Amino acid sequence: MSISVDMSDLKMPKHIAIIMDGNGRWAQNRFMPRTVGHRAGVKSVRNVVEYCANKNVEVLTLFAFSSENWRRPAAEVELLMGLFMSSLQREINRLDKRNVCLRFIGDITAFNDKLQQKMLEAELQTQGNSALTLVIAVNYGGRWDLCQATQKVIDKMSIGALEKQEITEQLINDHLSTAGLPEPDLFIRTGGEQRVSNFMLWQLAYTEMYFTSTLWPDFDQSVLEEAVRSFNGRQRRFGHTSEQVLNQAITL
Ligand code: FPP
Repeated sequence: MSISVDMSDLKMPKHIAIIMDGNGRWAQNRFMPRTVGHRAGVKSVRNVVEYCANKNVEVLTLFAFSSENWRRPAAEVELLMGLFMSSLQREINRLDKRNVCLRFIGDITAFNDKLQQKMLEAELQTQGNSALTLVIAVNYGGRWDLCQATQKVIDKMSIGALEKQEITEQLINDHLSTAGLPEPDLFIRTGGEQRVSNFMLWQLAYTEMYFTSTLWPDFDQSVLEEAVRSFNGRQRRFGHTSEQVLNQAITL
C-alpha cells in the first residue's frame, strides 16, 4: 500500500532545471519519425509550465537545444527551429496572461534573424511578469556560458574597470547567462541517461539530481510530483554536517 502525501505539505524547489530527453525514442517506439516526438514534447512543456506557475515555483529552466544539437540531421534541426518559432508565436500571449516572464539563455546569434527577433520581443513583452520565470536554454552549453562570462570579465579588466582581486564566485555568477536567477535546487533529466551533458555546469554545483527513465513526451505532472517528493526527502547540507543541519545551527 502506498501512503499518499498531500502535495501541499511539500516544499517546492525555487528553481527546477530540466533536460528534456527521449523525444526521438518515444516516436521510434511508435514507428514514427523522431520529429513526431519533438512535437509531442511541446505538450509536456506546456504541462510543466502550468504546474510550476500553479505551485509558485520561481524559475523553470528547460534545456531545449544544446550547442551540440547542431550535429543532428539538418532536417531535424530545421524542424526544431520551426517548432520553437511556432510555439513562441502560439504561446506568448497565453504565457504573458499567466504572468510568466520568458528569458532565453545561450548563444542566440546562431539562429536566423526572424527567430532572434521573436525571442527578443517575447522577452520584452513579458519582462515585467512575476509569477514564474521560464528560462529556455537554446544553443546553450555550460562551457560556452563559462567562456562568455570570462570574456566579459576580461573586457572589463582590460579597460581597468575591474581588478583581479575582485574576481569572486559572486562576480562570475553575475556574468553568467543566468545572472540574477537563483541556482537550481532540483535538476531533472528524463529519458534514462544519467549525465549532465554540458548543462549549467557552474550553476548545478549544489543541485539535487533526479533521473527518470520516463521519455519526455510522457512526462506529466505526476512524474514531476514524484521528483518533488524525492527532492523533499533529501537533506541539503551545502558542506555542513548532518548534525549542524538537524540542529539548525546554520541557516541554509
Ligand atoms: C531531446 O530528445 C530533445 C530535444 C533535443 C529537443 C527538445 C525540444 C522540445 C521538447 C520541443 C519544443 C520545446 C520548446 C521549448 C517549445 P532526443 O531527440 O535527444 O531524444 P532521444 O534521446 O530519444 O533521441
